[in-house]
Amino acid sequence: HGAAKVLVASNRGPVSYEVREDGSLHSRRGGGGVVSGLSAIGPDAGALWVCSALSDGDREAVRRGVGEDGVLMLAIPADVHADAYNGIANSVLWFVHHMLYQTPLEPVFDAEFRRQWASYETYNRAFAGALAEQAAPGAAVLVQDYHLCLVPGMLRELRPDLRISHFSHTPWAPAEYFRMLPDDIRAQLVWGMLGADRLGFLTWRWAHDFMACANGIDAERISVYSPVPSEPRHIEHTPTGRPPLSTTWIGVHGLGADAEFLRDRSRRPDVEERMAALRREIGEAPDGSARKTIVRVDRTELSKNIVRGLLAYRQLLDDHPEWRERVVHVAFAYPSRQDLAVYRDYTAEVQRLAEEINSQYGTPGWTPVVLHVKDDFARSLAAYRLADVALVNPIRDGMNLVAKEVPVVSDEGCALVLSREAGAHWELGEDAISVNPYDVLETARALHEALSMRPEERAERSKRLAAAATALPPAQWFLDQLHALDQDPRQPA
Ligand code: G6P
Repeated sequence: HGAAKVLVASNRGPVSYEVREDGSLHSRRGGGGVVSGLSAIGPDAGALWVCSALSDGDREAVRRGVGEDGVLMLAIPADVHADAYNGIANSVLWFVHHMLYQTPLEPVFDAEFRRQWASYETYNRAFAGALAEQAAPGAAVLVQDYHLCLVPGMLRELRPDLRISHFSHTPWAPAEYFRMLPDDIRAQLVWGMLGADRLGFLTWRWAHDFMACANGIDAERISVYSPVPSEPRHIEHTPTGRPPLSTTWIGVHGLGADAEFLRDRSRRPDVEERMAALRREIGEAPDGSARKTIVRVDRTELSKNIVRGLLAYRQLLDDHPEWRERVVHVAFAYPSRQDLAVYRDYTAEVQRLAEEINSQYGTPGWTPVVLHVKDDFARSLAAYRLADVALVNPIRDGMNLVAKEVPVVSDEGCALVLSREAGAHWELGEDAISVNPYDVLETARALHEALSMRPEERAERSKRLAAAATALPPAQWFLDQLHALDQDPRQPA
């Protein structure tokens, strides 16, 4: 047994390495909810983060034995990782949970898929093995996301003494949609998850979807209890079909924005510089007034629905010529998962449509769409501060933190056009303008309504949005999950 008392497992870790031309290694730290959560438990808590080596630099760091305290990078063979990450996680599982498969692009579960699935198992087993080795007796293990659905079950077999949780940062597929997967794969995914003592989701909607999926499998061996909302939901299961029964508790932890970090970070000089540059790009209306901005920031990825967002913006310019020259759509679409053709093609489609709108409507002094595709966090924050309207219209999204971050950062308060299919809608729906993400006309009307909102109403709504968005800061989100693992919900606290 190892010495770690709290372990986090995720595909993408908190640090990445790059080999410079002179052969030296440079590290870069990432952000996100788990990073701030872990820092909240302090450096002496015996925490260890187990993650994949993703880049060539990461693999070189592992080879040279370079690393950080508290981080263990697994050098999974590159072909196994590619199959598991690109083939299974970001194609099949991402597409199923976000309901992105559409005729004629439905999946084909062939021999190639089975080969990739075997890699997904190998990859999950590598994580389970490393966690089993590193965990102290009775340690808490917090497994993250769809890349690692099999880890709880595998780890439970290796180390029955551990307290294991799994948290889904994505939606979970509705049962009818999940049935698309081969029966044995569905069963393996659900049983893998049920190895955990607790399963966490971002909203009850996704939690209920998971419970419905579990209900459809192995009726004699899995019983789902979803009583009245005030009582704890749980699933009882017995892999052997005989007692003893094991219990997996289901919980919801709606990750919020990190207000303190965002407010501080967005006031730094590099953000101010980028605001000035953006203002120049946006320009002024012919009468000299400031142009309104509709801001969106996404990883370029099909569930984000960037193309329909651009179509809605074009519709707005058609339906309301009075906005021409007076509004700019600032769209940041950062590259994501570019090893996969569907993601690359989508990026190209976004760029093509933005250019088309610009050549159709643009004038010498006005570029209707300002599109940037190079990742730049400081520039994202600059756009957040300038935003009059934030457009967040995913087809389906676990939470969507952009919807929560913009109202917190924006200088004068922004109006939020928000898809009702984003997890964040549960908390922000009342003060946002809700849209069906497929409905381009409705989205165009919502953009008009948002642009036309009276400044006082916009500021008030934005304040309420910011309050709702920061209700559960990342550190608390993380601690809540850790504490929940210590308690049996049947006992009064
Ligand atoms: C989603 C997933 C995360 C993932 C992130 C970025 O939010 O839930 O697990 O890390 O997307 O995607 P990437 O494939 O670049 O890690």
